[in-house]
Amino acid sequence: MSRDAIFAPALHRARRQRLLDELGDGVLLLPTAAETSRNGDVLNEFRPGSDFHYLTGFPEPAAVLVAWRTGRNAHTTWLFVRQRDKAREVWDGRRHGTAGAKRLFGADDAFPVEQLWQKLPLLLDGKPRLFHRLGGDAEFDRRLLDTFAANARRQRRRQPTLHPTITDPIPALAAQRLVKDGAELKALRMAAAISAEGHTVAMRATRPGCREFEVQAALEAEFRRRGSPRNGYPSIVASGANACVLHYHDNDRRMRAGDLLLIDAGAEFGGCTADITRTFPVAERFTPAQAAVYRVVLRAQLAGIRACAVGAPWDRAHKVCVRLLTQGLVDLGVLRGNVARLVKKEKYKPFYMHGTSHWLGRDVHDVGAYLDAAGEPRQLVAGAVLTVEPGLYFDPRDRRVPAIYRGIGVRIEDDVLVTAKGPVVLTAGVPKDVEAIERMRAEALRR
Ligand code: GLY
Ligand code: MN
Ligand code: MN
Repeated sequence: MSRDAIFAPALHRARRQRLLDELGDGVLLLPTAAETSRNGDVLNEFRPGSDFHYLTGFPEPAAVLVAWRTGRNAHTTWLFVRQRDKAREVWDGRRHGTAGAKRLFGADDAFPVEQLWQKLPLLLDGKPRLFHRLGGDAEFDRRLLDTFAANARRQRRRQPTLHPTITDPIPALAAQRLVKDGAELKALRMAAAISAEGHTVAMRATRPGCREFEVQAALEAEFRRRGSPRNGYPSIVASGANACVLHYHDNDRRMRAGDLLLIDAGAEFGGCTADITRTFPVAERFTPAQAAVYRVVLRAQLAGIRACAVGAPWDRAHKVCVRLLTQGLVDLGVLRGNVARLVKKEKYKPFYMHGTSHWLGRDVHDVGAYLDAAGEPRQLVAGAVLTVEPGLYFDPRDRRVPAIYRGIGVRIEDDVLVTAKGPVVLTAGVPKDVEAIERMRAEALRR
């Protein structure tokens, strides 16, 4: 896929215009993060803020977007960016500078970032509103308030003009990002396809006796090989009872033939990430107990995906999954009693303690409201993408659970695009039924 399909300046301009038309008159002020130190002069990996990158495509730290509407279908964009610096660029890499911000990223004008606080007072003069999310960076907010104070001081002998009202632009931006545009969908589909390939490679690479991080390396090597620069979140590679730790990150255990291996990992592409979980045996086959648990989760997941229809409440998948998982817990002999009553009393919670879905996009837990104006679960709309990820987790020390199930953790997670024609699974490229997984494991172990 060409870079231009995802990074065209016209695309970002159109996104800014949509947002500004929604917000109305005023100035949008949106900084991205600065680099942070890991230790000494070693920096943490930098990734631009998702909102900033969605609206600009600009990849460097310490930049600020300023934009204001000049009429319907017209606005002005200024980018404040780090200046070119020969010495720094020798050490840290090329910068686009102000010329690059204009030429490559479609800014109408661009300035060194140090000039933001000089230019801002003039820009805000006479503007009724400033669209800025307070609370992201205390130092930035302090300088903004200083700007207002300086303006007030300058004007104290004249009739003072009003400060602009500060309005949070993020709810409008989040609503816009919730419904993916064409370029975002291309990026997400690509992230999903790459992630599916990585999971398939990991499923083939796993051997009894190898460490979890060796499988992680194989998975992430495939992500990189296929064009993903980074993961959307730290990979969870959890064998045996580690699968019962939802955000397990040690990834250092040596796995054994009788274990299951749960991998929850997603590659980022074009600024968007996938989010896939698969659980499979380290040996060739599931044990009967593992297969029984796995089939309960898979049945719930398939039904959960079917529940992702336009107009359905977004949490219908969760309700469907909870009912089927609870039924499964009864069938497995973990719970006893009437399924509806067990659901009502949340008796499934010790074994299924997380939600089933979240929005997915640039961030793994992406932006977008979950409740409508009345406080009810919002309805699914075409173009939204969410995960469906039921699981069952049996703590190895939980004596309420029949011994054969203790230490088993299973999650199955796919990414679903909501369309008028029904749910589309973007991550269908990795096997998930018992027979297909066992075939793949048998083939892999024979090699
Ligand atoms: N990978 C985090 C999640 O599934 O929500
Ligand atoms: Mn997820
Ligand atoms: Mn996940």
